[in-house]
Amino acid sequence: MPKLAGRFRTLPEYPLAGIPQKKRELAARGVDVIDLGAGDADLAPPPAAVDALAAASRTPAMNRYGFGLGLVQFREAAAAWMQKRFGFSADPLTEIVPLIGSKEGIAHLALAYLEPGRVGIIPEPGYNAYQGGALLASGEPYRYALRPRTNFLVDLDEIPADVLRRTSLLYLNYPNNPTAAVAPREYLERVVARCRELDILLVYDNAYSELAFDGYVPPSIFEIPGAREVAIEFHSLSKTYNMTGWRCGWAVARPEIASVLTKVKSFTDTGQFMAVQAAGVAALESYNRFVPGNVAQFKARRDAAVAAFREAGFDCETPRATMYLWIPLPADVPSALFAERLLEEEGVVVMAGSSFGAGGEGFFRISFVTSPERIAEAAQRSGRVLASMGAGAV
Ligand SMILES: Cc1ncc(COP(=O)(O)O)c(C=O)c1O
Repeated sequence: MPKLAGRFRTLPEYPLAGIPQKKRELAARGVDVIDLGAGDADLAPPPAAVDALAAASRTPAMNRYGFGLGLVQFREAAAAWMQKRFGFSADPLTEIVPLIGSKEGIAHLALAYLEPGRVGIIPEPGYNAYQGGALLASGEPYRYALRPRTNFLVDLDEIPADVLRRTSLLYLNYPNNPTAAVAPREYLERVVARCRELDILLVYDNAYSELAFDGYVPPSIFEIPGAREVAIEFHSLSKTYNMTGWRCGWAVARPEIASVLTKVKSFTDTGQFMAVQAAGVAALESYNRFVPGNVAQFKARRDAAVAAFREAGFDCETPRATMYLWIPLPADVPSALFAERLLEEEGVVVMAGSSFGAGGEGFFRISFVTSPERIAEAAQRSGRVLASMGAGAV
């Protein structure tokens, strides 16, 4: 066998990779599995998107290569959505980049900006595509631990000056997976100003911009003055429209930055299936009919989750956004062991905090991906495992 490249050997195991197989084994043993692992809800996509996919897939032209340009109507719909939702004007042809899921774009971006000696600041715990992209680009990840101490915000002033001098990319994601933290506007203003001073590209992952509750409205980074100079923002249909499997998202940035991502992608893919992009248009245009009702379902699940996990002996805060609870564990309960025992003994899939990197230790994550009743059942089972590990309330 040819020797593996050093950068490949730096990749950790992908946390979710083994779970489908494990679930199959448990189901074969007759275990009633409740999967609160991946952020992948059991809810239906907008009917208009399904109809648009069916119609477009029957049109021969839609079955040809999309190339980087893709379906112009998708670019226009994404730009119109940004305008309506955030008041931000983006040129559909030069400032929107259609993506095969936002993960694809996030991971590929690093190929253009990182190389040995150049740093990407990776919040940890965090979405694994940031470190994946940085490592596959042979860049240097600088892992910043997101802890309650800073309200799960990255404080650039805590990062050594010699690291900042070598930094090309800062990944930020608010509303945040997995901690469910949100970023105050003053914080975003400070970060944008620092990125401008330091000439850092701010990679703002806004996958959860619409899953917010109790009147909280997450901003776009482009609502912050000066952000256009230094930021690229990623959006996804996955969570807002229950379209995870469709692989459809987009990036927004000024033309000099957007064209860099487009160029990388021209060598790695030949565009998203245009029928999926047509469905994306239908989804984006169904916002008023679809999104508020969908968010209400997530809110009902959130409320059930918070109540049931508290009742089961866990101490968790009520998140204002995302589809996650980030639940603290007692100091003597390692998160990987807790998650393993919960799966083996009770058939409940959760994500150990440590699976998002060492900075995530001391917590576990659940996703609101099934009904309130099943989430409540999972909470009871979790409480039993917590108690059997000799731990009471946190
Ligand atoms: C923070 C964050 N960003 C991006 C994504 C990826 O979304 P997509 O399905 O568009 O690739 C996810 C998916 O879980 C996520 O949690």
